Amino acid sequence: MKYTRLGSSDLNVSRLCFGCWQLNPKFWGEVDIAGWEEAVRGALDVGINFIDTADAYGDGVAEEELGRFLHSAGLRDQFVIATKFFWNFSDGDTRFADTTHDYIIRACENSLRRLQTDHIDLYQIHSWDALTRPDEVARAFATLKAAGKVRWFGVSNLNPEQMDLYRDHFEINSLQPGYSLLDRRIEQRELPYCLRHGIGVINYSPLYRGLLGGRYTAGSKIEDGRAFGPFFHGEGLRIVAEAMEKAKVIAAELDLTMAQLALRWTLTHPAISSSIVGVKKPDHILGALKATEGPLSQEIWHKVGNLFSTAVAKVEALPD
Ligand SMILES: NC(=O)c1ccc[n+]([C@@H]2O[C@H](COP(=O)([O-])OP(=O)(O)OC[C@H]3O[C@@H](n4cnc5c(N)ncnc54)[C@H](OP(=O)(O)O)[C@@H]3O)[C@@H](O)[C@H]2O)c1
Repeated sequence: MKYTRLGSSDLNVSRLCFGCWQLNPKFWGEVDIAGWEEAVRGALDVGINFIDTADAYGDGVAEEELGRFLHSAGLRDQFVIATKFFWNFSDGDTRFADTTHDYIIRACENSLRRLQTDHIDLYQIHSWDALTRPDEVARAFATLKAAGKVRWFGVSNLNPEQMDLYRDHFEINSLQPGYSLLDRRIEQRELPYCLRHGIGVINYSPLYRGLLGGRYTAGSKIEDGRAFGPFFHGEGLRIVAEAMEKAKVIAAELDLTMAQLALRWTLTHPAISSSIVGVKKPDHILGALKATEGPLSQEIWHKVGNLFSTAVAKVEALPD
């Protein structure tokens, strides 16, 4: 496994990160927990030391499962744990953005309890909260850091202007954006910004929520929370599946699977520190490993990138 230093922190993280959103049954359906635990152990065995979760995944479920397993297996200290706050779901059905001082302190205490740990390695703001001043967020962060409850801070889904506002008040060590062959929007502004300011990037949905995993075809029926997306059904799926058939030929020439090619493509970008793979079972994380073995050549990176950019443009041009 290859490792990288995350931003200006002292966190030395594997280039693949284990994603825990899959423990949200409302979106992803039920997960076999024994298989998921095996996946965590398997990840550790091959050197993956980085786990991403969020308090909002299953309204606490993902953090609880992770905390229960790491505690009972005595594995907490083997992992760099990244979690997130932002969605105030304390009110039952409704959830709303909340980064006020008191809420952050409360959310952190709740995450520590669920994760059964005394500290969070990387605490991330899940998204942009237009209603709370950055100095108020900074005040909460300073309290948590001084108490040793959080080691480093990161952000997710933010643009450069929003990061600028926060960076006037506290150090941002990482950005967590979506990035894949089917979603390249951050290449224009966010990735250059992070390179310029030494901010680590841990990209989510590198397989575009599994679509680039290689097992879906034009005729597939995807019936979990992903079904609503334009690439996941009908003509959109057919167009992406067609691009994937061509990409699979390139993958085979490199002795890679489609999933490994898609992951290696994101890891080849110099701004990307680690790619977060969403995991339900051991094959997901172990099947991704080969992606980290080296970068793609410039020629292949552009060829594969263009293949999917053309597909995205075709899907975007479809009538509603
Ligand atoms: N900050 C944010 O706003 C945000 C948003 C989304 C996600 N995230 C984080 O990022 C993680 C990853 O995002 P994601 O779950 O959307 O991403 P993803 O890795 O693009 O998709 C995960 C899905 O891909 C398939 N898959 C996984 N490994 C595979 C492999 N080796 N080969 C083939 N298929 C494979 C599985 O679906 P199938 O079983 O259907 O094939 C799996 O459920 C999440 O778990 C979460 O930690 C953060």
